[in-house]
Amino acid sequence: MDEEHRPLRTFGRIRSRPIKPRQAALMTTLLPQVATPEGPFDPRTIGPEAAEVWLEIGFGGGEHMAAQAARRPDILILGAEPFLNGVASALRHIDEASLANVRLHAGDARDLMAALPDACLDRMFILFPDPWPKARHNKRRLVQPDFIDDAARLLKPGGRLRFVTDWADYADQTLMLVRRAPAFDWLAMRADDWRVPPADHITTRYEEKRLGDCAPIWLEFARR
Ligand SMILES: C[S@@+](CC[C@H](N)C(=O)[O-])C[C@H]1O[C@@H](n2cnc3c(N)ncnc32)[C@H](O)[C@@H]1O
Repeated sequence: MDEEHRPLRTFGRIRSRPIKPRQAALMTTLLPQVATPEGPFDPRTIGPEAAEVWLEIGFGGGEHMAAQAARRPDILILGAEPFLNGVASALRHIDEASLANVRLHAGDARDLMAALPDACLDRMFILFPDPWPKARHNKRRLVQPDFIDDAARLLKPGGRLRFVTDWADYADQTLMLVRRAPAFDWLAMRADDWRVPPADHITTRYEEKRLGDCAPIWLEFARR
């Protein structure tokens, strides 16, 4: 993406406290081995045997991504996160569990998405994205019409997009935008479908902080 056409930044700081020595070492040794390729690539060339390819956007400390990868070694999981302390933490999870099925993009997920071919993903996860709750910051939210078009391009027919937030107006906004997009169906049939965490969800420490203004709202969409 050239600088002139770059969308607004959707994330806050990219580093906080100093990264612990062991994790800093993994940034040098392990990250190059598990980083997604530079430039356009097809994830099937990385994991030709993978039953499915999933993408987690904004994996934070990587707890959910790593636990899903451990649970499903048959799946290739791509993760994108610009927060370097989070990337370092994810590397620790990958190292400790010897995960061979995770690839990381240490940067903006939208750059990774632009590098992927059409209909290459089975699932996408956006879990507790930065809420940008002030009205003047809402435009920094990740989920925008262009983002939804990109997600629709990348998901296979029947592929799933999971979005969860504990900010009521972000859930409303996402629901409105995605339902307006002809490419997606919202799968909820009853209130518990958006009120109760899906059976395969893994809770993160960030989620447990409950920083939003409502209980988490779980939105699951299917690509038509
Ligand atoms: C509030 S945290 C939640 C982290 C994690 N999903 C969880 O539930 O524990 C949101 C994360 O999204 C990341 N993020 C924001 N915009 C992003 C983008 N465009 N691409 C990738 N990650 C992004 C932020 O850096 C931050 O780590």
